[in-house]
Amino acid sequence: MRPVYVLNGPNLGRLGTREPDVYGAETFADLAELCRETGRALGLSVDVRQTNDEAEMLGWLYEAADGRIPVVLNPAAFTHYSYALRDAIAQRTAPLVEVHISNPAAREEFRHTSVVAAVATGTIAGFGLRSYVLALQAIADGTG
Ligand code: DQA
Repeated sequence: MRPVYVLNGPNLGRLGTREPDVYGAETFADLAELCRETGRALGLSVDVRQTNDEAEMLGWLYEAADGRIPVVLNPAAFTHYSYALRDAIAQRTAPLVEVHISNPAAREEFRHTSVVAAVATGTIAGFGLRSYVLALQAIADGTG
């Protein structure tokens, strides 16, 4: 099975209790299980991680770049301001799909900017946890 990383940024470990009206009632554990199950069906070995620490996230992106491993990335709030994350993604050697649970374009003005979108393969946003399923399908298809 081909390895894929599913990397999640700050506050996503709080899914289920965090603003359920925006992010839904499912927990991070539910998300991780959904990604692993989806991966199994697609022939992908999915490694799901979450961190609130920008440095740790950069380290995981270097690991993916060095191993030529595709990535599904929800950068969470880092999306909107982290040039360090953008520069790490620019080093990628395999597809990287930016995902969001909500649709940031339909929310507050500060969420309308993604500093990482231009260095991602593509972006999937606004489909709830299904955004991750769609991203894994794109990677499995070779379209991601
Ligand atoms: C998010 C959207 C971001 O604006 C926000 O900071 C998040 C989650 C999403 O998945 O909808 O933490 O990336």
